[in-house]
Amino acid sequence: MFNKAVGIIGTGKYVPEKILTNKDLEQLVDTNDEWIVTRTGISERRIAAEHQAASDLAVIASQNALQAAGITADQLDLIIVATVTPDMAFPSTACVVQEKIGAKKAAAFDLSAACSGFIYALANGSNYVASGMGKYVLVIGVEILSRITDYTDRATCILFGDGAGAAVLGEVPTGRGFRSFELGADGSGAELLKVCGGSRNPFNQQLLDERKQFIYMAGNDVFKFAVRIMGSAAEAALEKAGLQKSDIDLLVPHQANMRIIQSALDRLELPAEKCMINLSKYGNMSAASIPVALHEAVEAGRAKDGDCLVFVGFGGGLTWGATVLIW
Ligand code: UT7
Repeated sequence: MFNKAVGIIGTGKYVPEKILTNKDLEQLVDTNDEWIVTRTGISERRIAAEHQAASDLAVIASQNALQAAGITADQLDLIIVATVTPDMAFPSTACVVQEKIGAKKAAAFDLSAACSGFIYALANGSNYVASGMGKYVLVIGVEILSRITDYTDRATCILFGDGAGAAVLGEVPTGRGFRSFELGADGSGAELLKVCGGSRNPFNQQLLDERKQFIYMAGNDVFKFAVRIMGSAAEAALEKAGLQKSDIDLLVPHQANMRIIQSALDRLELPAEKCMINLSKYGNMSAASIPVALHEAVEAGRAKDGDCLVFVGFGGGLTWGATVLIW
């Protein structure tokens, strides 16, 4: 599939300091800790400070990833930022990050694939290196979902949090790196998870009065889709890589709901020890979920040389993505 072996040569993360607990949410909406933990697996999430925009979180995660990779920002050829909460409508957050970290020769763009964004960005970034278009690519998943979350809607406000994760992609020894990608989309589900604004419905007072600046989600429909797609996308990526479920050493799934992750584990016949789960601490950070979980797995020594890692995610669009990577 690839002309060169391309993999992840450094990871980084940043999560804001402020913690919003289930108890805190009990003060805002009619909910309780027991319901949230049982139905989602989430105990707390991080909330960005007022002065922080997505690029501020992304820059810290990126600097950590660059340091881990042992390269400097001026060596980067491309920056891809996966986000649904950019600093502004345009220019891209990737351009803001490029300037802030001093990646002078890097091209930069944002990628919109919601919670699947990081995997979509890995596919694009790894092909950029594999094709010889560049040597190093910085891929970032970052969200400040607290800015588009309706804290009067108990069905959604319990789920989301803020954070950033980053990975530097570069050439790796033969036999290592990305083995396959499985990306997909089903635009017939576009209305199930969305935020208004944009050219279809530019914001006006009526939209604001109807709280349309916030996330709308048909939770049950997204749940059913997620349960179906997580296992099948991971299986499809494994098949493309010529590997079996039993070859997986570590699954790094999108952290949306513990029941969704458990259904993927059941389908892949994996014990929980082979899965990176940090959902309880951060909630759903959309595009940032997988790179933050990956970084924490790396830090904890859970990704060892030669291990078979599978990342799998799903989200608005609807979109999904999975990749198999030999660490
Ligand atoms: O990154 C992708 C983004 N999205 C997702 O992954 C979300 C996927 N969906 C889900 O995770 C789940 O559908 C939710 C966690 C959002 C909801 O869980 P559920 O088990 O599907 O609950 P439900 O919507 O079927 O609601 C069950 C009950 C309802 O009450 P009634 O009608 O049975 O009396 C809700 O009104 O729970 C009620 N409810 C709550 N109760 C306490 C809904 N939200 C809450 C709440 N606290 N926060």
